Amino acid sequence: IDISSLRSASGGLITLDRGFKNTGSCESAITFLNGEQGILRYRGYSIEDLAENASFLEVAYLLIFGELPSQQELDKFHQDIKDESYVDEEMKKILDGFPRSAHPMGVVSSLTSALIAFNPSSVDVSSEEDMYKSIVKILAKFPVLCAWALRKRTGQPLDYGDSSLGYVENILKMMFKKANEDYKINPVVASALNKLLILHADHEQNCSASTVRIVGSSHAGLFVSISAGVAALWGPLHGGANQAVIEMLEGIKEDGGDSKKYMQKAKDKEDPFRLMGFGHRVYKNFDPRAKIIKKSADEVLGDLGIEDPVLDIAKGLEKEALEDDYFVKRKLYPNVDFYSGIIYRALGIPTEMFTVMFALGRLPGWIAQWREMRLMKEPIGRPRQIYTGENHRPYVDIDERH
Ligand code: ACO
Repeated sequence: IDISSLRSASGGLITLDRGFKNTGSCESAITFLNGEQGILRYRGYSIEDLAENASFLEVAYLLIFGELPSQQELDKFHQDIKDESYVDEEMKKILDGFPRSAHPMGVVSSLTSALIAFNPSSVDVSSEEDMYKSIVKILAKFPVLCAWALRKRTGQPLDYGDSSLGYVENILKMMFKKANEDYKINPVVASALNKLLILHADHEQNCSASTVRIVGSSHAGLFVSISAGVAALWGPLHGGANQAVIEMLEGIKEDGGDSKKYMQKAKDKEDPFRLMGFGHRVYKNFDPRAKIIKKSADEVLGDLGIEDPVLDIAKGLEKEALEDDYFVKRKLYPNVDFYSGIIYRALGIPTEMFTVMFALGRLPGWIAQWREMRLMKEPIGRPRQIYTGENHRPYVDIDERH
């Protein structure tokens, strides 16, 4: 290694921290997380209190602007969002170009990026007022795009929902209202979704939030930054875990329900299989969101009168893992996504939409991270590296290569 290449621009030494396990990328006043004690707070408010008492839109306001809104502030915020819910008709042509089998996360990421073509002024956020306009636009249009991705898949006509409804209720209606049907909101479903969205709303510098910040740090604009966040969230090691968990639990069920066999597979270092929904980069005790979700899963299934054998398999796996040396030693506990898929399924949300539901929840967090990054005038994100390739080599003419 050429030692001089390890010097940073300021004269210090470059550190290598694969996966940024011990690197703080910014200062932030949004979300507090203590992985040892299992504490999660948004702007100082505990996740338990918010999940129990708040509406998702209040939490969105809190994350983005730093304070819980007064009723008047919340009403104005909601009205501003409703006023921006129109998505250009031309966007439907882009949606048309996707095969029906396309994964909704890819569709949503592409459509979110395409929004800029129809809202070019949203990129210029030189004042806080411009920033507010872009924020309200994306909060309004993103759920429409998510609902369209589902409706395309299910062959339902596209629509814009019902502006007389609450933000969360409207998401449900936009997604599930069938043509010529009088869709009635089930309050149990709406309340469960409200809670899930709050639990997913922010989680400090995770993979997708860091992606949003780094893309946004080049001043590329909010919409593309969010589009990149969606792409980052898609992977099974991050938000895609909620889909992977249900697929894994279904697989275990179909294979006779022998969870011990899968525990063994997860421990086998020759086998790439991991117990999806277990482990977390930061929580090394328990994930406080998983505790709330587990309780909520029991309540929702009870209220809706659903018996899901997959819930029993999940509980069995959790119990076994808590008593297993491999999992205990590595501090691998169920994370937020271990139980969320079971609730989404009970709410009638198709499996391939689970990660889109996560994205809907995470949207205010991404926005808050992006806004803070821009207001703090963060420099462009540009990590360094330790070069391990060849030293200088003379060019070899193509005829002389073998
Ligand atoms: N099943 C089996 N073994 C696991 C699991 C798992 N789910 N998770 C981690 N391990 C093991 C690793 O093999 C490693 O073992 P080793 O020390 O013998 O090599 C050790 O535990 C540490 O794991 P890392 O991958 O180094 O931990 P990292 O912090 O990088 O990864 C992650 C965290 C990605 C969440 C990981 O635990 C995982 O892949 N979990 C399953 C996927 C998942 O549920 N993702 C959702 C995360 S929550 C979210 O994003 C919303």
